Amino acid sequence: MKKTLITLVLLLAIMRLTAIEGMWLPILLQQLNEKEMQQMGFRLTAEDIYSVNQNSMKDAIVIFGRGCTGEIISPEGLLLTNHHCGHGAIQRHSSLENDYLQDGFWAMNRSEELPNAGLTVTLLVRMEDVTQTILKGVNADMSEIMRDSIIRINIKALEKQSADSSGYDAQIRPFYFGNEYYIFFTETFRDVRLVGAPPSNIGNFGGDTDNWMWPRHTGDFSLFRIYADENNKPADYSPDNVPYTPKYHFPISLKGVEKDDFTFVFGYPGRTQQYLPAVAVEGITEVSNPVAIKLRERRLETFQSAMNESQLVRIQYASKYAGVANGWKKMIGESRGIKRMEAIDKKREHEQEFMNWAASKPAYEAKYGGIIPAFEAIYKHFIPLNLSRTYMSEAGLGIEMLRFAGQFADLVRMSKDKKKPDEEKQKRLLALKNAADGFFKNYHEPIDKKIMAEMLEIYFSELNPVYHPEVLTELRAEFNNDFEALSNHAYEKSIFADPERLKNFLDNYKPRDHKKIERDVFYRLASGLNEHFRNNIAGSVQKYERQLDSLQRIYVQGLMEMQPERRFYPDANFTLRITYGKVDDYYPMDAVHYSHYSTIEGIMEKENPDIYDYVVEDRLKELYSNADYGRYADSDGQLRVCFIASNHTTGGNSGSPVLNADGHLVGINFDRNWEGTMSDLMYDPDMCRNISLDIRYCLFIIDKFAGAGHLVGEMSIIE
Ligand code: ARG
Ligand code: GLU
Repeated sequence: MKKTLITLVLLLAIMRLTAIEGMWLPILLQQLNEKEMQQMGFRLTAEDIYSVNQNSMKDAIVIFGRGCTGEIISPEGLLLTNHHCGHGAIQRHSSLENDYLQDGFWAMNRSEELPNAGLTVTLLVRMEDVTQTILKGVNADMSEIMRDSIIRINIKALEKQSADSSGYDAQIRPFYFGNEYYIFFTETFRDVRLVGAPPSNIGNFGGDTDNWMWPRHTGDFSLFRIYADENNKPADYSPDNVPYTPKYHFPISLKGVEKDDFTFVFGYPGRTQQYLPAVAVEGITEVSNPVAIKLRERRLETFQSAMNESQLVRIQYASKYAGVANGWKKMIGESRGIKRMEAIDKKREHEQEFMNWAASKPAYEAKYGGIIPAFEAIYKHFIPLNLSRTYMSEAGLGIEMLRFAGQFADLVRMSKDKKKPDEEKQKRLLALKNAADGFFKNYHEPIDKKIMAEMLEIYFSELNPVYHPEVLTELRAEFNNDFEALSNHAYEKSIFADPERLKNFLDNYKPRDHKKIERDVFYRLASGLNEHFRNNIAGSVQKYERQLDSLQRIYVQGLMEMQPERRFYPDANFTLRITYGKVDDYYPMDAVHYSHYSTIEGIMEKENPDIYDYVVEDRLKELYSNADYGRYADSDGQLRVCFIASNHTTGGNSGSPVLNADGHLVGINFDRNWEGTMSDLMYDPDMCRNISLDIRYCLFIIDKFAGAGHLVGEMSIIE
């Protein structure tokens, strides 16, 4: 009897191991996670994932661009990431004549691979715990300002010393709100070329309609290649550069995954806030999200109707639309998920427990007793202030022309400075001319004009007047309380609004012309908002954030003391992490079951030639009707497209490799499900799923659809 009971308990413990919340540090994996990963099915060791002594998987993971992950999949530096991560690069190479966004792009040999100025990838060389060095000279009695400044000095010194002595870049980042510090040695490659991208109706199939949702049928991938100098070191673009030889590249498995299979995701999760107090979560999901959602909705409607009317506008606004829509939908899902989970109540209960625990001992009480009330007190001021920041960034800076005009502040400053060498002014002028070319390439005035009138009206009428920027009040009065008149006037008269006029102005620019810039309505608005931000928002935000940060640090310290047996993971901060879980289905709502994978059948079900997001290429239909999937088909002859698993991921994990128990690549992470988007604030094992592209669909597209089998030939394929 006793024995069966023990077995039962064990069995339950194992059964619960289907989802593991958390984003773990590679160097702590062996200590904290290895055993559990192996119990879940992992057949390798922590050392295979991250090692300082030998080549390991971490040598094939990169930060791609500014906010994505990518992985190396061939001995010749071939790099895989999402289509939406390569989107900007693909778009910059696209025009009406060569529309790579719409038609796809495939380099059929190395000489056709396209360079991308400004695009970089960063490899991690190694990381180390430097908490002791960074906290040297810090003690519990000193003020937060003092503490901050000592830490800042220590960080600077150690970063410099480490970079000098290692020859690598070195960055130090706080973890657990400054309870721990780690240093990251990295190497950044600057010659990264576009190798392949499917047409948008594959790479972005389902578009923003399906975004953040399961079931999904998006072939969200693109291919790049890292180039290096003859010593395999980073170099600026040069035709003489050669493909980078990596220390490791991921083998690719064609075996696919089934329900309950162990998987892990290795990449760069951007930001989570798991340890926020209830009051903060309330501020996000009930105060600032709803406003941002509404403001974005208005902009999206305007984008959409113009995009429907013109193919050029569709190209110009594809990236902008996707970016705005992505955040918009995420916020909706997040607020709903938090409500469904009753997360705020749960957090309040947990906080009550914490307070009770603190009250149990005078030493605890002294250190932790005041934390929760202090949070409440600060957030009471911080939330409305932060809301004014939301209006500023979503309404004010939602106007493209304002963001553009704001870039001229430097020129104005330089022009007023008689001592500034002419050379520097000329340099700035040239940079602005280039910026203008880039800006107008993807700009459609009627969109921005409409948005300006709408956004300023909402900004003014809905935000508590206490927080109104002065310039808004002023301009409104000048135009008889009519923002539409203001907008019409601005687009008619402004030097910024017309590319020819602006070019002319800049070509003949004299220092005294700064006055013309300063009188310009767009510039006045831009610099007025900027000034408002500097004088009325930034300082207070910083003050509160500093206080909140230090409360968070002590709060997490207290939680760790209260629950010594609980394993804590640090919030995501765009450093390299491992998350692991299992391939798994879920039940999103009453009477509905979602299975763990999707197939090409679903693409054909969704097909609709009249709806932009659901157009299917003829070539794909042909392959489908012949069931011509080659070795990429499943054992039952079906072609799988995407799958879901319980890996705890977030923004930044896009493009991350999804690996099986043997460390072979089986998928590319690209999204989360709608019901699980609150996982940045609170994770729900029943609902949270990461969405991955099945690597077999990706290879099928490269090989069968695009006829770029030479690329598959470079990879290490495991049949
Ligand atoms: N939701 C995914 C992420 O957060 C994909 C976004 C790109 N796709 C899109 N249709 N906007 O990045
Ligand atoms: N699409 C997201 C990204 O760009 C990943 C999805 C998520 O937030 O989990 O990183």
